[in-house]
Amino acid sequence: MRIVYVNGEYLPEDEAKVSVFDRGFLFADGVYEVTSVLGGKLIDFDGHARRLERSLSELDMAAPVTTEELLAIHRDLVDRNKITDGLVYLQITRGAAPDRDFAYPDESVAPTIVLFTQSKPGLADAPAAKTGIRVISIPDERWGRRDIKTVQLLYPSMGKMMAKAAGADDAWMIEDGTITEGTSNNAYIVSGRKIVTRGLSNDILHGITRAAVLRFAREAQMEVEERAFTLDEAKTADEAFITSASTFVMPVVAIDDAEIGGGVPGPVATRLREIYLEESRKAAI
Ligand code: PDD
Repeated sequence: MRIVYVNGEYLPEDEAKVSVFDRGFLFADGVYEVTSVLGGKLIDFDGHARRLERSLSELDMAAPVTTEELLAIHRDLVDRNKITDGLVYLQITRGAAPDRDFAYPDESVAPTIVLFTQSKPGLADAPAAKTGIRVISIPDERWGRRDIKTVQLLYPSMGKMMAKAAGADDAWMIEDGTITEGTSNNAYIVSGRKIVTRGLSNDILHGITRAAVLRFAREAQMEVEERAFTLDEAKTADEAFITSASTFVMPVVAIDDAEIGGGVPGPVATRLREIYLEESRKAAI
């Protein structure tokens, strides 16, 4: 049975409990991170820890543990659950106030912290990386602070279901005529040899994989342009792909009814995936 971490304790998953008054449950008043594990080591841990700190501070939420403690807990869970390839999920909420009240409780209410692992053998060899995935476009109906990694993921869940109903794998969201990002990933197109992805703002999550991939792309002398792009531009692009901690770099071969790059993964996405996996494995801790 899986061992999970809850508020300072390591427990079998069926003994781990959170209050019904927890603000994560009542108000989606919580933030999260997903860190991948390859070969038993954490990928991009520092980036995830830094973004967590920022998410917490944007919401005036206290950090229940230091970054060093967080690293130790991640490693402990990976060991205790014998994870070779998979993910560590972390969630921190504003805790359980005595009653349901929209106002934040005072500091006497301790935050809730939960971490658990998901085993995904062969995570880096996902068959979809060879065939690419298909996405549909949907309106972006999320709130305006998508730079904060909150647990209010209902619209992204709806988006995945819309994609599924349409026979696709995922959805790209559109606001004011341009693509913001995927339901749980950042979105890119390649035109000519140029990699185009939306610039950082409150409109999108500042992906940790995005930051690493853009750095590797520039180091490999690939041209990168950070700007918004339209659905039409995407549909006629040479390549498209997404990035996230759980998919790394994943080629996109269709957007709505338009095939991209003849319906097969392109050379830029394929190369970036190789570089990302190679470099991240080297830097894993
Ligand atoms: N999602 N954009 C959104 C909306 C996301 O939810 C995510 C991550 C990303 C990519 O960020 P990163 O490269 O740091 O994983 C972009 C995670 C994987 C999830 O919700 O499972």
